[in-house]
Amino acid sequence: MPPSTTSPPAPWVRIPVLGNLLQLMRCGDNMGEYFYDLSTTKEYNKVFTIYMGCHRTIILNHVDVIQEVLTLRQNDYVDRPTMYSAEKMTDGGMDIAMGKFGAVWKHQRKVAQLAIKNYASGENLERMVDEALNITLESILKESAKGEAFNIKPHLVLLVMNTLAGVCFGKTYQLEDAEMNDFVDITREVLDVFNNGLPADFIPILQYLPTSSREKKIDVLVQKYFDFLEKHLKDHVEKAQSGSDQLNDLTDYLLWHTEQEEKDASNKNLLTQKHLLMTVFDVFGGAGPVLLSHRTKMPYTEACMKENQRRGSVLQLGIPLVTTCDTKIDKYDVPKGTLAMVNYWALHNDPEQWHEPSEFRPERFLDAEGNLGPKPRSYYPFAGGRRVCLGEGLAKSTLMMVIPKLYQALKISSPLGDQFRIQLDTSSSLMSLPQPYDVIVEQRK
Ligand code: HEM
Repeated sequence: MPPSTTSPPAPWVRIPVLGNLLQLMRCGDNMGEYFYDLSTTKEYNKVFTIYMGCHRTIILNHVDVIQEVLTLRQNDYVDRPTMYSAEKMTDGGMDIAMGKFGAVWKHQRKVAQLAIKNYASGENLERMVDEALNITLESILKESAKGEAFNIKPHLVLLVMNTLAGVCFGKTYQLEDAEMNDFVDITREVLDVFNNGLPADFIPILQYLPTSSREKKIDVLVQKYFDFLEKHLKDHVEKAQSGSDQLNDLTDYLLWHTEQEEKDASNKNLLTQKHLLMTVFDVFGGAGPVLLSHRTKMPYTEACMKENQRRGSVLQLGIPLVTTCDTKIDKYDVPKGTLAMVNYWALHNDPEQWHEPSEFRPERFLDAEGNLGPKPRSYYPFAGGRRVCLGEGLAKSTLMMVIPKLYQALKISSPLGDQFRIQLDTSSSLMSLPQPYDVIVEQRK
């Protein structure tokens, strides 16, 4: 379908080859907010078109059009784009998050959901979160015994690492562990260098030019990242080969499942060892964060967690979706192969939908009796539809175990008192993560 007057309006003039990359470079740090501001000018209301290099892309800035994509037309907006950097990071889209929509992807997602249900939920998850939490509490108390304010981030990273490593590999680390710290450094570096993507993501022909030093650095980092995952996978393979039929964690389960599939000659959607590794990559790479059975008795805690996810939308603009057919958005036509980006920042900060959106108010999620109210319309912290976050249940349950337990054990305050505000680093269009901050911790008696 050629671009038509019925396409979503375009705020910028498109330059051959570059598309709107020059304008994008001038957007400043918080791209979600920038796009939201642009959308509030009448003409570009709700949805507009930009060109990321050669990719025609629609930016969805309002709950009306976001709901249309995530629910009503979820079968049309379900694919992922082929992007050079993502292909490098996922070995050609072998994982779930960047995987091409089709039978293998559907099967891989189903197997991963089963693995999470069997090894990362209920009592299993509680046990692993408890173990991770005890290690973290010990490290926090050791630091707070020095009597000074300190940066809590490394301890929270330890908590997330131990939860995910427990789920994936049945392993835990201490704060000083070299293997863990190397991995955390690599992840940080990977995020830094990928930041807003590589030039070849937007102008594909550039991938055939001699490799730049930035790209060489990426290749080294990606290799180190996979070496870490492969080492753990190899340990699990060796355990299985030694005759152990005990399935203790998600990797054990995935290995066992792949083996069963290999025995089934009628199976056409075989998952290879690469798919297996990349599924672990998705779970381990997912940001993870309480007691399932107590969950309904803690509406205020849950409301705080929800408000936290609204205020700090981790993925500002999500992962691009791609249309699998000619389709529609609002009153406009959208051709097959168009990228669609959900502006989560706009969704969660639109003042028409949220009264005083910059304020932290958990009460937004509660009814008059203090119980959890229905889901607000403009709220999709885990996306929705067929590409809904794979780890939604895991993340929510873990958060609901961790937060109450941390606050039961510790009194956490800021040396800045009421003036304290968490600052998000919004320089990457991929993820907004909190900047480091100091806290004072006292053990509750
Ligand atoms: C608080 C924590 C988390 C938040 C806020 C979050 C949020 C999201 C969002 C918004 C998306 C959709 C991206 C898009 O299509 O635009 C997503 C996708 C995804 N998430 Fe999460 N996530 C979290 C934790 C996790 C965990 C723990 C895992 C690991 C199991 C995970 C695995 C994934 C995967 C694999 C996808 C891609 C799904 C697909 O394309 O089919 N996430 N997440």
